[in-house]
Amino acid sequence: MDLANTTQSWTYPTNIHFGCGLSSNLAHYCEEAEFHRPMIITDQKLIENSIITPCIDSLCNSKISFNIFTDFEENPTDKSVMEGLTVFQKNKNDGLVAIGGGSAIDLAKSVAFMDGQSQPIFNFEDRFDWWKKANKEKIRRVIAIPTTAGTGSEVGRAAVIKDTQDLKKKIIFHPQMMPFIAILDAKLTIGLPAHLTAATGVDALVHNLEALCSTRYHPIADGVAIEGLRLIKNNIEKAFQNGNDLNARCAMLVGSTMGAIAFQKGLGGVHALSHPIGSLFNSHHGLTNAVLLPYVIEYNLPEIHEPLSLVSKYLNLNSEKPKAIISWLLKLRDSLQIPHKLSSLGVNSTHIPALTKMALNDQAAATNPRILNETAITSIYKSSINGILEL
Ligand SMILES: [Fe+2]
Repeated sequence: MDLANTTQSWTYPTNIHFGCGLSSNLAHYCEEAEFHRPMIITDQKLIENSIITPCIDSLCNSKISFNIFTDFEENPTDKSVMEGLTVFQKNKNDGLVAIGGGSAIDLAKSVAFMDGQSQPIFNFEDRFDWWKKANKEKIRRVIAIPTTAGTGSEVGRAAVIKDTQDLKKKIIFHPQMMPFIAILDAKLTIGLPAHLTAATGVDALVHNLEALCSTRYHPIADGVAIEGLRLIKNNIEKAFQNGNDLNARCAMLVGSTMGAIAFQKGLGGVHALSHPIGSLFNSHHGLTNAVLLPYVIEYNLPEIHEPLSLVSKYLNLNSEKPKAIISWLLKLRDSLQIPHKLSSLGVNSTHIPALTKMALNDQAAATNPRILNETAITSIYKSSINGILEL
């Protein structure tokens, strides 16, 4: 790369507080964010399972009044954002606390963003500099408390929202969508079922790996990504096999946050091909990524020898050959009981043309290390449906 003629803008994340039990001090963090009347966005199941009880108790024992919003889909839509916003404005809330996975956090960030806007949400899709159209003075603050180690949305400046008109997942971006505070409390991830620990954990792994292989120049993100990969490699199976292993849960949560810090460098083909499947089949994002991962890496191999040999060395894989990564990932996927073929998610060859059309327009395709044209995407989908790898 010609560094003398390269320009890039690098953004660091937000205030991150890491520690088991920290979320039981939620009232303190609300005071720090100057919230007097926050709206909590969370999953109904987290209330029923008492996982977020310490957070709620903290607010109940303070002078802060709050209301809880749980009425949204697994993949939040523009409709969920408008419904959340209506409740937010009706209750005269002054900030948002998101407790949950990527869906709850993305929804909270979107409601916080839309409170001050007069244009429809998709006018702020992450295209060109559309974010500059926003009224930035009125964007509300968000405190993000992840209960999964996957999306890393707690340190991201964007949210994924599904468009109910064309069913596409779209990225809404604004620099001020970055949460004001992120609280990494691994105790909240203890109750996550094994299959979700696996799927969200591989999503975090993919964030680190795709960021490392992305075409943009960002050595800071590279450093973060490679250590994020090491944390995930050393802990994902431990967390999957024993959900109560708090040390493994802590490391996974940090690895996930690091993945999202790293992917400001860009993502790649796994996400570009996964988003359309998530949109049309409502499949779990992390699981879809996990199935696609080895096929996309195999396609990218000619362009990613350097980052893959770095990963092999740093992660102590048996061989420094680039294909060693694929062997490791296949074994890992197997031990996490993740299916090998896209057909397991209901995708078959008749779906390929529609999926390919959507993947070609996905933002993540732009930073894939090897050009993703129609032929390439069709071929990767075909291999993934039939489980064909040329190892
Ligand atoms: Fe992802």
